[in-house]
Amino acid sequence: MEKWNGKVVVVTGASSGIGEETCRQLVKKGMIVVGFARREDKLQELEKSLKGKLGKFFYVKVDVCSEENILEAFNWVKRTLKSIDILINNAGVMKQSDLLGKTNDWKQMFDTNVIGLNICSREAIKIMEELKTKEGHIININSIGGHYPFPFMKDIAIYTATKHAVTEITESLRELLGMKNLPIRVTSISPGAVETEMIEEVNYLKEQNMLKSTDIVEAIMYALSVPQRVNVAEIIIRPTKENTLDFMKSTMQVHTYCFTYNDLAESVVSSHVRKERHRIYDYVNYKIPSI
Ligand SMILES: NC(=O)c1ccc[n+]([C@@H]2O[C@H](COP(=O)([O-])OP(=O)(O)OC[C@H]3O[C@@H](n4cnc5c(N)ncnc54)[C@H](OP(=O)(O)O)[C@@H]3O)[C@@H](O)[C@H]2O)c1
Repeated sequence: MEKWNGKVVVVTGASSGIGEETCRQLVKKGMIVVGFARREDKLQELEKSLKGKLGKFFYVKVDVCSEENILEAFNWVKRTLKSIDILINNAGVMKQSDLLGKTNDWKQMFDTNVIGLNICSREAIKIMEELKTKEGHIININSIGGHYPFPFMKDIAIYTATKHAVTEITESLRELLGMKNLPIRVTSISPGAVETEMIEEVNYLKEQNMLKSTDIVEAIMYALSVPQRVNVAEIIIRPTKENTLDFMKSTMQVHTYCFTYNDLAESVVSSHVRKERHRIYDYVNYKIPSI
């Protein structure tokens, strides 16, 4: 990590959870960290708690659903710090809203998780290109929901759609920057359930094994610390002992439209068929003999 000492990193969604912990750890490593988020009181508290550490913490009040806000914030970074080396696109929102839910919830999720993320990347890359940054890195905090469908958690269907978009965007951006021959790495980090504010409202996750924000920050540190010739493209992190049947049991208690255990199991099996053949084997042979 020493090579990043004194370098500038922007972290979106810095006011809580994974983003807050990322800021803390990177400042401790000696980096100049700029946190973006809407809740200024939380950012001020974080700023106070990081006084006197090896690196420095600044914040800009930013709503990533506002392009104007984002442009002003990146201009501030360029004007004030004269550099940007790393962008960690972490800001995200998960509304429990299914496919018959509210349009505004869907828009907020796409604006924050997809459009906001992409505007931030575009602006950071523009500055990196202009300032001829020698080693750049964009890290997108994706989700396990960006790789697998979760048909038994119907209320997060739009959220997982946004994260599937992040998977696609990350891969395409890595290709694009490669074609442009720019020395900027692109990484997707995809956690399973993490104990943060985002998960607090989701009743059926309360009993599940969860990761901690520090676990995700360790993955960020790993992706940053490998030699520049190495682009860690994707890291998937799931809690130990996580199992889909437990999820199914808990979601059945809240979703009345999930009629029977076997209905649910069938939908899981069919949707996982492309990616998780070994797990289907488990369902079929050990758990749900009727399928
Ligand atoms: N927790 C999990 O189980 C889990 C699992 C997989 C992936 N993730 C992903 O991890 C990332 C961080 O989430 P978290 O778990 O740490 O949740 P969190 O504690 O709720 O943090 C979300 C952060 O995003 C910021 N944010 C939300 N909307 C914003 C907006 N319009 N403009 C600017 N900032 C905004 C929030 O700040 P303000 O409200 O102050 O703006 C907050 O700092 C998200 O991308 C999430 O999808 C989380």
